[in-house]
Amino acid sequence: MAKEGVEKAEETEQMIEKETGKEPAEGGGGGSHRLGDTQEMRAVVLAGFGGLNKLRVSRKAMPEPQDGELKIRVKACGLNFIDLMVRQGNIDNPPKTPLVPGFECSGIVEALGDSVKGYEIGDRVMAFVNYNAWAEVVCTPVEFVYKIPDDMSFSEAAAFPMNFVTAYMMLFEVANLREGMSVLVHSAGGGVGQAVAQLCSTIPNVTVFGTASTFKHEAIKDSVTHLFDRNADYVQEVKRISAEGVDIVLDCLCGENTGKGLSLLKPLGTYILYGSSNMVTGETKSFFSFAKSWWQVEKVNPIKLYEENKVIAGFSLLNLLFKQGRAGLIRGVVDKLLGLYTQKKIKPTVDSLWALEEVR
Ligand SMILES: NC(=O)c1ccc[n+]([C@@H]2O[C@H](COP(=O)([O-])OP(=O)(O)OC[C@H]3O[C@@H](n4cnc5c(N)ncnc54)[C@H](OP(=O)(O)O)[C@@H]3O)[C@@H](O)[C@H]2O)c1
Repeated sequence: MAKEGVEKAEETEQMIEKETGKEPAEGGGGGSHRLGDTQEMRAVVLAGFGGLNKLRVSRKAMPEPQDGELKIRVKACGLNFIDLMVRQGNIDNPPKTPLVPGFECSGIVEALGDSVKGYEIGDRVMAFVNYNAWAEVVCTPVEFVYKIPDDMSFSEAAAFPMNFVTAYMMLFEVANLREGMSVLVHSAGGGVGQAVAQLCSTIPNVTVFGTASTFKHEAIKDSVTHLFDRNADYVQEVKRISAEGVDIVLDCLCGENTGKGLSLLKPLGTYILYGSSNMVTGETKSFFSFAKSWWQVEKVNPIKLYEENKVIAGFSLLNLLFKQGRAGLIRGVVDKLLGLYTQKKIKPTVDSLWALEEVR
């Protein structure tokens, strides 16, 4: 993290504490506001899909927890690559705008819906939210909420669930990472990439190959065994170091890299597709890069997979959580990850913190 980033983070964190730490005063003030009889809160609203000018901070009605939900006073929320894709409308079946973006947050439990058990008002938590996380207050079903350790800051907790659960599930649930294996990860300097690198370091003798823009190499060089520039011929570079290739390829650049990734797999190796960052080439959605990505998606022949002993997989955490009902499985993963955090084996990297008003 650059020094400038650290200073900004501390300064903004203090601002967040000051802003949201106040007890709501009678009739308004603190983190909530009253207008007539309606209690309100602030949220980032995406007015329509497009550029940064579509984002603004607005007042919205204070949400109240439904049966089975928790109401959380948000202290920090995560900004992930998927949020950028949502802003552009670069996702499948986008919801209607206006909407409040954001899929994860951390904060303090402020109220419990009926039938909620295991949580109390005042608990420090992190949570997945199916949109609406970029707000002062969110309500989300209890199955998506996790208590956080006392020594985990709110900013760390907001950077934790999406990055680490995704990385953990791909490495251990899908690809079965074991001692002595090797992993290639694209965007190694990103949130998921850094979580992958940290989790690989918890298993003995794992070699991590990573691609990232060269200006990030200095900051991440200790976490990745072999780093290549994002535009380098990484297939050739990996093969120069390991002629047999790698055991696991994690690919978030849908379309451009599937064939290359498969060609790098050792026998019984696993290729996982989990993103399409390459569709984002500017501030707004580019129909050209969207079409190009789809056009370039490799046709995979299952007979070739069987002959070459290779595994191809896909992974989508949000679908697993919000469409496929696997919250119980993910809670087990979060428990394991919090165990690793408590043992000081993993730690989210927070580059910088921004106030709601700075969202653009
Ligand atoms: N499937 C899932 O469940 C799941 C969950 C979380 C994230 N993801 C996906 O994982 C990827 C990384 O997410 P993140 O939150 O870790 O991202 P992040 O921290 O924002 O990092 C993204 C990095 O991707 C690279 N990148 C950006 N635009 C690109 C482009 N047009 N072409 C090639 N590379 C580009 C850049 O790194 P360099 O310039 O250094 O290469 C950028 O820093 C995204 O595609 C995201 O959607 C998927």
